[in-house]
Amino acid sequence: MHWTKSIAACALALILGLMATAARGQSAQSNSENLKDWWKNAVIYEIYPRSFQDSNGDGVGDLNGITQRLDHLKELGVDAIWLSPIYPSPQADFGYDISDYEAIDPLYGTLADFDRLVAEAKKRNIRVIMDMVMNHTSDEHKWFQESRSSRDNPYRDWYVWKDGKGETSTDKGEPPNNWQSDFGHSAWEWDAKTRQYYYHKFYIKQPDLNWNNHKVHEAFKDIIRFWLDRGVAGFRFDAITTLFEDPQWRDDEVLKDKNGQPFKNAYGDIALNDTMTNNLPEVHSVMQEMRVVADQYKPNEFPGARVFIGETYLPNIAELAKQYGTPEHPEFQLPMDTQVGFINKLDVAQFREKLNDVETRIGDNVPLLVFDNHDNPRLDARYGDTLHNQEIERAIATILLASRGTSLFYYGDEIGMKTTQPERVEDVKDPVGRTGWPRDKGRDGERTPMQWDDSINAGFTTGTPWLPVPPTNATVNARAASDDPYSLLNWYKELIQLKKTNPVMAHGANVMLDPGNPKVLSWMRQTAGAAPIVVSVNFSAEPQTVNLSGGNSGLKAGSVKTLMKSPAGSDPSSLDHIELPAFGVYIGQVQ
Ligand code: GLC
Repeated sequence: MHWTKSIAACALALILGLMATAARGQSAQSNSENLKDWWKNAVIYEIYPRSFQDSNGDGVGDLNGITQRLDHLKELGVDAIWLSPIYPSPQADFGYDISDYEAIDPLYGTLADFDRLVAEAKKRNIRVIMDMVMNHTSDEHKWFQESRSSRDNPYRDWYVWKDGKGETSTDKGEPPNNWQSDFGHSAWEWDAKTRQYYYHKFYIKQPDLNWNNHKVHEAFKDIIRFWLDRGVAGFRFDAITTLFEDPQWRDDEVLKDKNGQPFKNAYGDIALNDTMTNNLPEVHSVMQEMRVVADQYKPNEFPGARVFIGETYLPNIAELAKQYGTPEHPEFQLPMDTQVGFINKLDVAQFREKLNDVETRIGDNVPLLVFDNHDNPRLDARYGDTLHNQEIERAIATILLASRGTSLFYYGDEIGMKTTQPERVEDVKDPVGRTGWPRDKGRDGERTPMQWDDSINAGFTTGTPWLPVPPTNATVNARAASDDPYSLLNWYKELIQLKKTNPVMAHGANVMLDPGNPKVLSWMRQTAGAAPIVVSVNFSAEPQTVNLSGGNSGLKAGSVKTLMKSPAGSDPSSLDHIELPAFGVYIGQVQ
């Protein structure tokens, strides 16, 4: 008996042991799967470090400030933060002019502060993504200092140098061709010492690197390893489509109106189509090389797969599709789809077309939707109608977070921060605004300090903020929003929660519904073996009623369970009769 009992006890122990091992195995497996695929249904949050949180009272945000605010991001539910550049920089373009790629600008802190941020973020399951600027460096980078020192310096060929046209020993002649800088005027700058022009796609203080020089490739591979070794989860590649220039140095085409007259741009220059300096095919092999480096980092522990995000403003979906590369030669996992988010008007047909494009024309890849960043006026200025801005911002958040794929948004979007442009040219900080004033007031308006509360400096700093805190912080701030269950902030949180926890929301395909409707954008999220979820967004200031049954959906009139809706109101009794107030949103699961 005793003996039988012990056998039974042993068997039970064995079974329990086996079960525990199996469970451990399973959780290890699902954990490592999560780590490999963490970016596929992820929420990524862009931080402009100057403006997020100042911890030392100098009026400029910093790394310790970000660390202090990580709980806001955890509560929001973000998987990763992308930091705009924090490397040493003369700050001529606020960090996009880098003078050392393997350090932290003292303005933002130290490498130790950075490591602490990464560690504290990890505790909250948040990854850190760095900005990687490979198109250009600062003119104060030691590579450029060497390069410009003499024509036979070993670094000469690291940048794009060229003779002028008609140059003589006394006259610098004309720039080599008509190429223009995105920041205004000629893209060529005369360098008197070595009597050649250097090329800068952006500011004069941002000379372009020469990507035909293989040493440049090797230098960036080292830089990428440096940061991956420190635990970063990947990079957002800045201005990546402009890495190469036409090898024959041909002029860009002049854009003309219908009367054949050239246009003038905001800088007063003749407007050009920049096909000679943008989206040249050579960039693909560079990204493939960089991916080989990142893919050597095995995704079996946090932060998991290292991810490449691309700043990919491209003319169409076919060009975007190419940025993913192929399974044999991958490039970006997440090139930004700027086709959807920068339509810049609430045009239902265009949204339907562009969302359908990214759902159906990028193969098995994952879309990365984005509506806002540090280079464009905020959502209110591009989509708002002043009267219903809050509702419109909810509608945009819904498209961003209830569509299939990964979602990227910009600090302050979650509380509805507004664009606040400088009023006088002498207050402008951004070089774009200084050159473009008054037609282009630059990007300061979307870079104002994060509005944490309604105090004088919005909880951002105890000093003088580098850009003024907008007066809207009296009502638009994170503290007030978190106290209000109906706030935009809580709408974001609920959407993110739904995206993460509902399997149909996480993985279901996007199928456009009611495709002839000119006022309401509707789609269905659909996955085998689960009830579909429908989403409707009213793009108009008038109430609308939609019928989501029949047509291409295959859905039958019948009951639907509300998951989220805005504004509050009664639930629809059937899929064929969903009422939406002005700019209203409805999300429901078919029963
Ligand atoms: C990218 C950045 C922008 C910067 C430019 C030059 O477009 O997002 O802020 O000015 O590249 O680096």
